[in-house]
Amino acid sequence: MSIKMQDQITQATQLLNEGHIVGIPTETVYGLAARIDQEDAIKKIFTTKERPFFDPLIVHVASIEQAQKLVQIWPNAAAVLAKTFWPGPLTLVLPKNEKVSSLITSGLQTVGLRMPKHPMALQLIKEVGCPLAAPSANKFGKTSPTNAKHVAVEFARENVFVLDGGECEVGLESTVLLIESVAAGARLSILREGFVTKSKIESTLVTAGISFEFFQANKTASPGHMKHHYMPSIPFVLLKNNSTDIKELKKEILLKISELPEQIEEVKILKPTQIEKLVQLNLSSDPVLAAREFYAKLRLAAETGADLIYFVMHENFTTEPWLALQDRMTKAASLII
Ligand code: TXA
Ligand code: MG
Repeated sequence: MSIKMQDQITQATQLLNEGHIVGIPTETVYGLAARIDQEDAIKKIFTTKERPFFDPLIVHVASIEQAQKLVQIWPNAAAVLAKTFWPGPLTLVLPKNEKVSSLITSGLQTVGLRMPKHPMALQLIKEVGCPLAAPSANKFGKTSPTNAKHVAVEFARENVFVLDGGECEVGLESTVLLIESVAAGARLSILREGFVTKSKIESTLVTAGISFEFFQANKTASPGHMKHHYMPSIPFVLLKNNSTDIKELKKEILLKISELPEQIEEVKILKPTQIEKLVQLNLSSDPVLAAREFYAKLRLAAETGADLIYFVMHENFTTEPWLALQDRMTKAASLII
């Protein structure tokens, strides 16, 4: 690590230890972090993000031992998955113990844990000597940040210090996996799609000889999951088919969007009053690269002065490698037609 990076980490460590919040790089998206033992700083995360208190935070650790100290049980399935995918984009939701406050978990008896795969984040957690709670570093409902500048701009008014770790490699938030232990083995439910897919989880557990089954958790298991999220500053529309007639398309969008409510589950739905200029979002045909560029390109498109951004979904969009991106796009969109 360069001297400059180390200096930044030292500064961030000091700020966190004094009870401030700090923007941190991870391989998925940037986070807005606080020490888990500083209640006031945790509250500051919610108020700075304008995030409702019912949406729980993920706790970031620098080792498996640090994670084990925060839970009541560390089932075999968790051990195998952490060993395989940590550090990396997989959050394990497990029964918490008293070291994790209910402010972090929004009153749930479980906590989401992950070890991020970014050398600066890992070094920071080690130097602070305490796990860090961190949601994505964006205002509630808005596009997630994939570089330090995104965070600095988002929280310019709040003057948040950001540890600059460059561009995020994965670009979409971690997979969130609920693990329940039962006598027969583990019951698993994917609460949020991410880079670590269901197939990867399945094959890892099968190889390790762990008994498990997937189930569909009910909505109360993941309170932070809204219909809309990740929204850019101008309306975003997903198209199932490429429209050849732009004039007709504009008319249809205006009509359909005007029929939507102003707000869905506390997130304001963006609606254009007129559509003069449309901008098409173009992403790589490789799902890994498309995920990496999505949020940054969405932000850039929103800054072009257009009235609306649209993206045309392709045939592969419903296949597993695209599921995480499909989920984020569906939520970022005001409308799908
Ligand atoms: O990749 C990521 O996960 C990023 C980076 C910064 O680590 N973090 C992130 O945090 O995406 P956030 O707050 O934007 O999304 C976390 C989501 C919550 O909205 C919630 O749905 C779920 O994770 N979550 C956290 N703790 C949970 C729990 N105990 N039970 C169920 N879901 C939980
Ligand atoms: Mg988020």
